[in-house]
Amino acid sequence: MSQPDPALLDAAFQKFSAHFSGLSASKAIICGSGWSGVTEQLSVIRSLPFDEIPGLGNPGVVGHHGELALCEFKGQQVWIFKGRRHFYEGEGWTPIAVPIYLCARADVKELLLSNSAGAVNDYFEVGDLMIITDHFNAIGDNPLVGPHQKIWGPRFPDLSEAYALSGRKKLQQAAQANDLSLREGVYFATRGPVYETPAEVRAWKSLGADAVGMSTVPEAILAHAAGITVSGISCMTNFAAGISPHPLSHEEVTATTAQTMPKMQALLKSWIALG
Ligand code: HPA
Repeated sequence: MSQPDPALLDAAFQKFSAHFSGLSASKAIICGSGWSGVTEQLSVIRSLPFDEIPGLGNPGVVGHHGELALCEFKGQQVWIFKGRRHFYEGEGWTPIAVPIYLCARADVKELLLSNSAGAVNDYFEVGDLMIITDHFNAIGDNPLVGPHQKIWGPRFPDLSEAYALSGRKKLQQAAQANDLSLREGVYFATRGPVYETPAEVRAWKSLGADAVGMSTVPEAILAHAAGITVSGISCMTNFAAGISPHPLSHEEVTATTAQTMPKMQALLKSWIALG
């Protein structure tokens, strides 16, 4: 699949800078399935629908709103991408890269990637939140394949600490402020859109997976390569295939995020307030 289209990325930034002229923030959050509700308790300064941003377009998935909002909470401003595009939507890497490109060009220093995931680790429960400590890319592709583009850092980006220790500590601090306990673990990304088979889940568990999902990894690669401090948080919306006693469905994913919303909101509000 093609790497992000530089002309579309630039057009996206032109639109972004014109719309949000004079506004800025050093932090950003990308909301995965069901996470957009966390913005309900923030004040919105200005927003822009995804489909008005060249190269981005509307997420075709329930639970992904498709809006970029500059929000404020306790004097802290933050870019919130309400929803994300996925590689399985079949439009290549551009829609996935646009939010990261905007962050890089807008001088965002810290990016929090959120998602919904299937729990693989035996100790995890549905509704747990997991700090991503590392990832495993089983998407079978990489957004940096293609001619080298300087915005994404060196030709061979280092991923020894893709999810910054400082970011992981900050999430723990935000959790402590709310008496929440967070899991920590390795996020395993597949291309989707099918959920995994039980055999795949067993194999990935033996390779070190704690949770499995269909997103986040490409964004983490791009953002880290672009020099942004990346953190990741997963909501265990279901037990992974073969562990779950019933078939997997997106309805279960959105129902769990709805139930877990108070925890997710509290965590992200504290994360924002920490500055
Ligand atoms: N597998 C892959 N992606 C997911 C899952 C899952 O079990 N749950 C939420 N997103």
